Amino acid sequence: MTLTDQVVASFGGAASPRFAEIMTSLVRHLHAFIGEVRLTEAEWAAAIDFLTRTGQQCDDRRQEFILLSDVLGASMAVIDVNHPTGGTATESTVLGPFFVPGAPEFAAGEDISAGAPGTPCHFSGTVRSPAGDPVPDAEIDVWQSDETGHYDVQYPDLDQPRGRARLRTDASGAYSFSSVRPESYPIPHDGPVGDLLKAAGRGPMRPAHIHFKITAPGFRTLVTHIFVAGDPHLGSDAVFGVKDALITGFDGDRASFDFTLARS
Ligand code: BEZ
Ligand code: FE
Repeated sequence: MTLTDQVVASFGGAASPRFAEIMTSLVRHLHAFIGEVRLTEAEWAAAIDFLTRTGQQCDDRRQEFILLSDVLGASMAVIDVNHPTGGTATESTVLGPFFVPGAPEFAAGEDISAGAPGTPCHFSGTVRSPAGDPVPDAEIDVWQSDETGHYDVQYPDLDQPRGRARLRTDASGAYSFSSVRPESYPIPHDGPVGDLLKAAGRGPMRPAHIHFKITAPGFRTLVTHIFVAGDPHLGSDAVFGVKDALITGFDGDRASFDFTLARS
């Protein structure tokens, strides 16, 4: 029996067939990868050191492993497997590290910037079902960077939310709010993931976007962004989160985007 077959067989007694399936495939791919690149012992040690430093960079404010998953495109690959659009639903993209549950609630049209620096901008649109019917009372979480490319949670001395809100759609499925224009920004790159980007000759920038998380009974939760058309980083997003259908033209100080939710 080959080494690979021996390791695969060692998972044969697993209580969970799904666990056995995942571990079997992981071991087969891992062994094939090691053989394909003829991994040296020094490279194996460097990989262990990299993963160790990645773990050491994690705490309750920073998740370097998710960041690693993001820059390897693994986060988007998992989203693509689990959130097919069915031809109608709005495309999903990464949640990112700056979502905070329980954001302050705002009424339609209100200014959610709370003093965040930037160019004032008005956002509006509708939330619809795959058949095109309005989805009333959908809960929309919105969060975004300011003109310096920072989220509220990245300011150590700021103790209140800024550019972050929970809104609800009205009876016609419409939402609207005022805020500031989001700007492009670098993902955290002062740790091992930053080292990896540097070694690859890749930049840490994400193109300007605003995050949406939309929930409504009977529908799958949609986690997505709208991206600002014309941003120079649209073709080189550090986390591969851009989908063409999410790129939105800003008409002066106004942006409009309609969402379609998938049925659960
Ligand atoms: C974000 O868009 O907030 C984000 C996503 C992935 C990694 C870092 C930031
Ligand atoms: Fe973001």
